[in-house]
Amino acid sequence: MYKSLLNQIKAIISKDLPLVSNLSNVAALLITMKDVSWAGFYLSNEDTLYLGPFQGEVACTTIPFSKGVCGTSASKKETIIVNDVNKFSGHIACSSKSKSEIVTPIIKNDIIKGVIDIDAPVYSRFTNVEKDFLIEVAKLLAVLF
Ligand code: SME
Repeated sequence: MYKSLLNQIKAIISKDLPLVSNLSNVAALLITMKDVSWAGFYLSNEDTLYLGPFQGEVACTTIPFSKGVCGTSASKKETIIVNDVNKFSGHIACSSKSKSEIVTPIIKNDIIKGVIDIDAPVYSRFTNVEKDFLIEVAKLLAVLF
């Protein structure tokens, strides 16, 4: 199901392009996933994440590594799936539309470069299928940093 999206991402990204251009187009592809209201990136700057290219509503601009689903994913260096954002202590609500969320870190040489963040307007949208898909996307993107 996500094979086609992965192929499109592979086709669209290039080491010869600025990072912002690559990430912008990948966000545009990720937002086409079914039941997704926000898709984009937060990028690392020391112990803070700042908003990168995205598709969806206006979002929080900075997130400390100690806060939110994004910060937790960045500090633990692991994918976090939240089935109900109201039940994740420390969840940062950028939009009332968001009901569930998945965040996957982008890691290069063991250093956290940023995270991929996807929000859904429905509960329990994300499973290990999406986790595996986003880990593949993160691997493709890591080489661009
Ligand atoms: N909910 C995220 C913040 C970013 S928005 O979802 C776009 C979090 O708790 O880290």
